Amino acid sequence: MKVLVTGGAGFIGSHVVDRLLQSGYEPIVVDNLQSGNRKFVPPSVRFVEVDIASPQIEVVFATEKPDVVIHLAAQVDVAYSIKNPVEDANQNILGTIRLLACCHKYNVKKFIFSSSCAVYGEKDDCSIKETFPIQPQSFYGISKFSSELYIQTFSQLFQLPYTILRYANVYGPRQSAIGEGGVISIFFKNVLNGKAPYIFGDGEQTRDFVYVKDVASANVLSIEKGTNGIFNIGTNSKTSINQLFQIINSLTNSNISPIPMPEREGDIRFSQLDNTKALNLLLWKPDYDLQKGLNETLTFYKGIQNKGN
Ligand SMILES: NC(=O)c1ccc[n+]([C@@H]2O[C@H](COP(=O)([O-])OP(=O)(O)OC[C@H]3O[C@@H](n4cnc5c(N)ncnc54)[C@H](O)[C@@H]3O)[C@@H](O)[C@H]2O)c1
Repeated sequence: MKVLVTGGAGFIGSHVVDRLLQSGYEPIVVDNLQSGNRKFVPPSVRFVEVDIASPQIEVVFATEKPDVVIHLAAQVDVAYSIKNPVEDANQNILGTIRLLACCHKYNVKKFIFSSSCAVYGEKDDCSIKETFPIQPQSFYGISKFSSELYIQTFSQLFQLPYTILRYANVYGPRQSAIGEGGVISIFFKNVLNGKAPYIFGDGEQTRDFVYVKDVASANVLSIEKGTNGIFNIGTNSKTSINQLFQIINSLTNSNISPIPMPEREGDIRFSQLDNTKALNLLLWKPDYDLQKGLNETLTFYKGIQNKGN
C-alpha cells in the first residue's frame, strides 16, 4: 500500500516513514525542506521536494496515486505564527486544503492529520479529553483547528475517510531545537555543551511529553483504525519544565542553573492529554515513559556530539 507522507523529512515524519517501512508499507515523502533534513529519509524511499501549498503538489498525486496520505508538513513554530499569521495560515490551512482537494480528485482512501493540543488552549490543571471546548491561544492553534474542520467537511461532502491525531509535546531523536515542544532538544543541546538554557515564566507550567516512536506508531495504526475520529496522542501524565530540567541535569551528570526569562505570549499553563479514546479505538498505547524516552534521546544527542568532535 502506497502512503504519501507530507513533511516526511521532518522530525516526526521521518519516524513515521521508518515505522511504515517496518510494517511493510510503501512510503513516498514530499517535503520542501523548510525545517526538514533530506538525510532523515532513507535512500530507498522516493522523495519529492515540493511545497504542499503550491499547485505542483498535484503532480505527485497524479504520478504516484497514493492510497493513504499522512499529513505532517506544517509551519510548526507557535511564536512564528503569532508574528506571521498570514504565512502560517498559507502553509497550514491552505496547504492542507490543497492536499484535501488532491485526495478527493485522486481517490485517496484515508487522510491522517497531525493536529495539536494547541487547539484546546488554556485549561485548568486537568487531563484534557477530545470533547473539551476548543479555544486556541495562537494562530498556529487556529490553523490546526481550521484544518480539522476542512478535513471533516471534505469527509462529509466527498466521503474522504480521515483520522485526526492531536499530539501532546513530542520529543525524541532528530528533533530540532526550535518549534513547538522542542524544549527537550533545547535543554539537551545546551546542557551537553555546558550552557545554561532559558526557562520562560516560573517553570511550573506542565507538559505531557510523548515519545516520537509512539507518535509514529499512532499514525501507522490509524491507516486501519480510528476512521473519522479525533484522538489525543499523549501519555496522560504531566511534567513541569522545572522537573524536566532537573531530570536532564541528573541524566547528564550536570549541575547547571537555567536562566529565568519572562513568560512567552501564547504559552499554555497546563497540558495533559487524556488518551483513553486512542487506547480503546486505535489500540495504541505509549511504550515509552519519560525516563526511557529521555535515555534514548540522550544517546542520540551524545552520538551527534561525538560525530562533531
Ligand atoms: N513536535 C511536536 O511536539 C508537535 C506537537 C503537535 C503537533 N505537531 C505537528 O506534527 C507535525 C510534524 O511536526 P515536527 O515536530 O516533526 O516538525 P518538523 O518541522 O520537524 O517537520 C515538519 C516538516 O514539514 C516540512 N514542511 C513544512 N512546511 C512545508 C510545506 N509547505 N510543504 C512541504 N513540506 C513542508 C518541513 O520541511 C519539515 O520536514 C506538524 O504538523 C506539527 O504541527 C508537532
